[in-house]
Amino acid sequence: MTRLTRADLDALPNYVPGRNVADLARELGIAEAIKLASNEVPYGPLPGVVEAVTEAVSSVHRYPDMGVVRLREVIGERFGVDPARVVTGCGSVALAEILAKSTCLPGDEIVYSWRSFEAYPIIAAGGGATSVRVPNTAGHGHDLSAMTGAITDQTRMVFVCNPNNPTGTALRKAELDRFLDSVPSDVLVVLDEAYREFVTDPEVPDALETYGDRHNVVVLRTMSKAWGLAGLRMGYLVAQPEVAATIRKVVTPFSTSTVAQAAALAALEQEDEVRRRCSLVVAERSRLTEALRKLSIDVPESQANFVWLPLGDRTAAFAAACENRGVIVRGFQPEGVRVTVGTPEENDLFLAAAEAALNS
Ligand SMILES: Cc1ncc(COP(=O)(O)O)c(C=O)c1O
Repeated sequence: MTRLTRADLDALPNYVPGRNVADLARELGIAEAIKLASNEVPYGPLPGVVEAVTEAVSSVHRYPDMGVVRLREVIGERFGVDPARVVTGCGSVALAEILAKSTCLPGDEIVYSWRSFEAYPIIAAGGGATSVRVPNTAGHGHDLSAMTGAITDQTRMVFVCNPNNPTGTALRKAELDRFLDSVPSDVLVVLDEAYREFVTDPEVPDALETYGDRHNVVVLRTMSKAWGLAGLRMGYLVAQPEVAATIRKVVTPFSTSTVAQAAALAALEQEDEVRRRCSLVVAERSRLTEALRKLSIDVPESQANFVWLPLGDRTAAFAAACENRGVIVRGFQPEGVRVTVGTPEENDLFLAAAEAALNS
């Protein structure tokens, strides 16, 4: 048969979504399964979001505001940046794709640490760019000096995931300063801060405050995690005005829906509640880390809303054993397991499953 799609995409792994909880519960014959696999915050939509969405639904026969004017103004005000520097999109993953499309021609290179966010290889390959993966340090973080060394004349973009998904490790200011100074000025550095709101280490910089004015830096944020809008798809980036203007030209038209815009505006009014929820997550993150270390798992310090269990070749068996006990976690065979911080009750169920899995 005549081939219709690109042969180079055949080898690309599929993005793996967390398993469906209802399916698993049915399969196991239990009342409820829990999902700690997709880094969502478990406390429901923020107050006011359901009402804002309900109201916005009445106008969905019309196209959204393509300029996303009000929302970009609010984001701009919140971070003290000109709204012309803000671009929104259908989740920050879509914006990462647009960034690749805006910077790379076929054969150009995108450098990133590995293991990191599993969408990076898909984004690079989808755009016809070449992935240059730099292995994580022994401590599961980015090896920034090796990343600098991996930059060539073909490199157009670098992803820095801070804190890193799936390991939770975070880069501190001094090392990031040094790295950004070392990157050629014609290479775009994307500081992906999907988990910024969970950072408690004062040495880990807020990229918008610290690096937002650098000419070759883009800061990528999502409202899927701390802001509770994963199902509505709402991400944004802040770039220099000329970079933002180019990105806006190639972003999929109308890809920030009317409903997502309304929900994001309502959510952004709930900063205190977001902070309260994040502190619950952070307290549970510490409890989980300590409990897992007591089980002899060498969990690195996490600055995100998940913890990393570097189980090596025990990864798949551990993830399957948890699943058999109704707890869905995310295994990255053969490196480790990422577990999202849930409610205290969910975390207790996970810890019981983990202990049983390790002893089986
Ligand atoms: C590091 C990182 N960046 C970006 C995203 C994408 O988030 P979204 O597309 O939901 O905004 C994720 C989601 O898991 C992530 O972990």
